[in-house]
Amino acid sequence: MVTKEKFDTVFHGDIIGKEIIFLESTTSTNDVAMKTGRKRENPEGIVVIADSQTHGKGRLGREWVSPPGVNLYFTVLLRPPFPPGEASILTLTAAVAVVSAIRNYTGVNAGIKWPNDILVNGKKAGGILLEMKAAKNRINLLAAGIGLNVNMPLYELPEDITSLSTSLKMETGESVDRVRLFGKILAEIENTYKILLNGNKRALINEWIRLNSTLTKKVTVKSPDKIISGLAENINDNGELIIRLPDGKTETVNAGDVTIVKG
Ligand code: BTN
Repeated sequence: MVTKEKFDTVFHGDIIGKEIIFLESTTSTNDVAMKTGRKRENPEGIVVIADSQTHGKGRLGREWVSPPGVNLYFTVLLRPPFPPGEASILTLTAAVAVVSAIRNYTGVNAGIKWPNDILVNGKKAGGILLEMKAAKNRINLLAAGIGLNVNMPLYELPEDITSLSTSLKMETGESVDRVRLFGKILAEIENTYKILLNGNKRALINEWIRLNSTLTKKVTVKSPDKIISGLAENINDNGELIIRLPDGKTETVNAGDVTIVKG
């Protein structure tokens, strides 16, 4: 049994965490947050956190392994005043917040792999899944779902991803207080979201660049319609990745799976 009160009260910002809904178990916190957000009277900043998920969702239709008692699974409900085409900046904003909180609270040297994987020692320890409901020119509702492997032991991971995934504890050998880390992440999200609302997108992109582990590397990007290989050169103001191809031309990608090519 998890002490719900602690998750409920660990952080209350002006925007983020005005209300924190703790669930012992649910299908997916993104689903609960989207349902909550459909009621217009529910303000942005509500956070849904679960101790375990029965249908945790990852990017590109994958499953997000969500056993109880060890990790963080939560979703922040937002109503950003931006057009849907600018949603990717929110992924970057969330990634900056999560990685800053991990670095500051645990001292673990986490990094961001474009667009939103949280890496520790080259392995994936967390990820971010954005879902939204939007009209033509405005986002009505955005669920920023964050999954972070905190104290999960290796044997809880499916065999096919053990070589690619990790948890904070697996990398440091030490348990991390999930509740306090959750509080620190929410505080960072409040901080970065306010920077975004104040129009300082460039500051967030610069911070993303400082914390990233993709740029300057040789990469292969599998996007829905093609595979591109080249040098990850930069990201633009929309958070899209710019790849320098072997023929010297550049290609810009806004979605896909990046593999960093070794050697
Ligand atoms: C990824 O594939 O990298 C994204 C993983 C996102 C997982 C989190 S856990 C909390 C929230 N609820 C979900 O069902 N998914 C996200």
